[in-house]
Amino acid sequence: MNNSAGNSYVELLEATIKHLEELREKGVKFVPVTQQTLAALFAPAGLARRAPAAQRPSQAAVPPPKAVVPVARPAGMLIDTSAAPADFEGKQAALEALRQRVLACRKCQHLAESRRNVVFGVGNPAARLMFVGEAPGAEEDEQGEPFVGKAGQLLTKIIQTMGLRREDVYIANILKCRPDTPGQATGNRKPTPTEMTTCLPYLLEQIKIIRPEIIVALGGTAVEGLFGKTQGITKVRGQWMEFQGVPVMPTYHPAYLLRNQSLLEKRKVWEDMMQVMERLGLPVTEKHRGYFLKG
Ligand code: URA
Repeated sequence: MNNSAGNSYVELLEATIKHLEELREKGVKFVPVTQQTLAALFAPAGLARRAPAAQRPSQAAVPPPKAVVPVARPAGMLIDTSAAPADFEGKQAALEALRQRVLACRKCQHLAESRRNVVFGVGNPAARLMFVGEAPGAEEDEQGEPFVGKAGQLLTKIIQTMGLRREDVYIANILKCRPDTPGQATGNRKPTPTEMTTCLPYLLEQIKIIRPEIIVALGGTAVEGLFGKTQGITKVRGQWMEFQGVPVMPTYHPAYLLRNQSLLEKRKVWEDMMQVMERLGLPVTEKHRGYFLKG
């Protein structure tokens, strides 16, 4: 896709979203969309694949039935999965189309001005397991990829210990931009509730496209971003929750484990991950069961 095609694609998409948001404000909950429009919307310009000739409707053919899709939801509304692509390529194209929109997002002007990169998410578009963190840090902002700093390296180790590769799962954050820290050269800050609410619809769309079997929420802020204020991560970790029909395992953020190196805390996260493995039907060996019991 050349730059001007990419720009006009994004402009068109933004105009469509604006129009849908205006409709939603007027109380419209559904709009009729043809299957072809839907397919085109899921693929960015240049990525849209034409159906094989045999499947293309002829000029005289009866127009295809109209599918009904919900107008873009505000956070908290139920995910409608009826329009979610079922196959790998459809999911990949839908994620790429979404990524283009997120890259152009300027809803939080202060974050759009301070960011180096938008950190959309990475991994398998058809992942069975999705990890959700809070927001990019400095390294993630620099590289445009979530969980690549020290905490990210620990997350990668956890994933590998589960018998998976980083590219088997999907990794994303509640916030796609690094929270700014004006006047500070280093350090991170927690996203504000407004920033989280503004960005959450993008994560909802990612979940809707990927349709993971399980989400692991990493840390209290990720849990708060998904569910609003809860009892706090110490109380809720290790207990299954549910987000829009998807089972969620809340656990400690890997950054917490880097700060607190005790075996006991590592074991807690590992027990949470073993619950996840069991629910996914991944092999949990005696060796797995023995990790972090003694140093
Ligand atoms: N911490 C997070 O929550 N997300 C990242 O991407 C990196 C660190």
